[in-house]
Amino acid sequence: MNTIIINGSPKGNGKNSNTSIICKEFVRGMKIPCEIKCIANSDIEELAHYVENYDTVIIILPLYVHAMPGILMKFIEHLRPSSIKGKSLGFIIQAGFIETAQEKYVERYFESLAKQLNYNYLGTVSKGEAAAIYMFPKMFKKVLIKINELGRIYDETHAFDPKLTKELGKPYQLSKFQIRLYQFLCDIGLNNIGWHKVLKQNKVFDKRLDMPFL
Ligand SMILES: Cc1cc2nc3c(=O)[nH]c(=O)nc-3n(C[C@H](O)[C@H](O)[C@H](O)COP(=O)(O)O)c2cc1C
Repeated sequence: MNTIIINGSPKGNGKNSNTSIICKEFVRGMKIPCEIKCIANSDIEELAHYVENYDTVIIILPLYVHAMPGILMKFIEHLRPSSIKGKSLGFIIQAGFIETAQEKYVERYFESLAKQLNYNYLGTVSKGEAAAIYMFPKMFKKVLIKINELGRIYDETHAFDPKLTKELGKPYQLSKFQIRLYQFLCDIGLNNIGWHKVLKQNKVFDKRLDMPFL
């Protein structure tokens, strides 16, 4: 049983790509680490053809605007239904917002996509609050250990460990208390610190309230 990992981030294997970090961490604990291919900068038609050589395809992607990045959609459009039964397709989504409930729509799509392509659906692992991994990897040590463990167990069982999948998927939705707490942090402007820093670095801080389409 051979597996290929597809990195679905437009940032490819750039240093600032959280998907790339997660891909590398997922395969690091494996006896023979799976091959990782990036959709970014690849010939999509060729890559879609190439994955046909594998029994399992695991797509690791960032959530962009509550959906998948455009390059991944394009790649999916090039996949052909498998003529062999028993192949598997799985997904690992990582996103900026905390609640993984926002991933549920794309998860449903992935499940039906696997069926349409005559693949077994391996499942989808979702991780929220992942946007800052590349900036503060030490703060995300526990998350990366879980991803590493997920990969190690996958290597042995060819399945996503249900316990780790559940843990990574928390919180699915924030509690009322957590919502009030975050509202308070927004009200005092604490949530803006990181974003404002990026805007200032890019010299667009003064333009942050512009409405060009009006
Ligand atoms: C264009 C764009 C759209 C995004 N949309 C969402 C979103 O809808 N929900 C979310 O939780 N995070 C969203 N994010 C945050 C990314 O999912 C998050 O930063 C992720 O870690 C990026 O992975 P990458 O570095 O591999 O691109 C968005 C980021 C970008 C750049």
